[in-house]
Amino acid sequence: MSTRNYFFSQFNSVPAFSARAPGRIEFIGNHLDYNGGPVLGAAINRYVTVAVGPRSDEKIVLVSAAQSDCIKTTLDAAEQPLSGAEAWGNYPLGMLKVMRDAGMSVYNGFNIAVTNDLPLGTGLSSSAALELATGYALAAFHGFALDRKRIAVLGRAAENSFVGMPCGILDQGTVAFGRAGALVLIDCEKETFSTRSLPAGTHFWIFNTLKKHSLVDSLYATRHRECAEAFEILRRADPVLINLAAASETQIEAARAALGTERFKRALHVARETARVHDTLDALDAGDLPRVGRNLTASHESSRLFFENSCDELDFLAERVAGAPDVFGARLSGGGFGGAVMAFTGSTFSEADAGGIVDAYAAKFGTKPSIFHAETGDGAELFDE
Ligand code: GLA
Repeated sequence: MSTRNYFFSQFNSVPAFSARAPGRIEFIGNHLDYNGGPVLGAAINRYVTVAVGPRSDEKIVLVSAAQSDCIKTTLDAAEQPLSGAEAWGNYPLGMLKVMRDAGMSVYNGFNIAVTNDLPLGTGLSSSAALELATGYALAAFHGFALDRKRIAVLGRAAENSFVGMPCGILDQGTVAFGRAGALVLIDCEKETFSTRSLPAGTHFWIFNTLKKHSLVDSLYATRHRECAEAFEILRRADPVLINLAAASETQIEAARAALGTERFKRALHVARETARVHDTLDALDAGDLPRVGRNLTASHESSRLFFENSCDELDFLAERVAGAPDVFGARLSGGGFGGAVMAFTGSTFSEADAGGIVDAYAAKFGTKPSIFHAETGDGAELFDE
């Protein structure tokens, strides 16, 4: 059902504006965003679509085809995050809150309907897609214009301050600036965004473990804190150091004792991953896809050994997939501690190849990961169905 028809079926009226936003793949640059490093992502052509329309009362009502709980709230009540089955509403309501905090005045009553052909909760950042689609639809409905950077920054703010996840700008930036056939390059220190064409004949496959560490959110926050502490320690020796990603391996080695084992490993991952992103860009310029792939696979190894955000299931998939024919490289994509492995492949990697890996995984772990042959897509935009 189209979002427009879904909206009509729920509210018996037509929406005024709709916007859609894609999922994203993290190509390389693991946990560099909140450390001020460079990251590469890609938007995929699966979307979350949000329709907004007026109401005659002062309520705000949200429905989603993917959620059984309908949310009824008001502008005042929507200042506070929701919990339990209604927690999905924190992405759209977080967007509403940061837009209001940024001085945009909004009407008292409106309806929001959400649909998605983007699989939810599978490491493709459906949360950022929901934030940005809501942002564009709400902005149009209230007569504001938001450029891509602004909406990415607001989306991240919603996630940080309302959802409570201390993420960087990778997800929202990629969702905002994605383009079919392109990677998005983000300089997370300067918050600048650009695109690089993907080489012809390359493909993305996502293998999702469908497993999530029960402590995934607190583990992410712990890594975030460890990185912040490592930066503070390194800055004592070099007061002009601007962020952790700017620290050299030599500086990190010199501070090894002060850092202690864990912070030392996190910092080393950040320094080497930063170098890998730069090398990946050079390799893409040179059309050297095997070198791109080696960086991807090395990134996974670094997550496994130094950032310690992998798990047995991800390691198994990354190793098997990277070793399959016509695969340039494979790595965990996103926060880690469960979630998905991304493979960057040539044209001959097939469903049958992927199936063989899934069977081997099932024999070892007793469950099947999902496989998804992802195509790149365009970034968030107003959308006339
Ligand atoms: C999650 C976060 C991103 C980024 C990645 C790891 O996807 O939302 O901001 O930190 O993890 O690179």
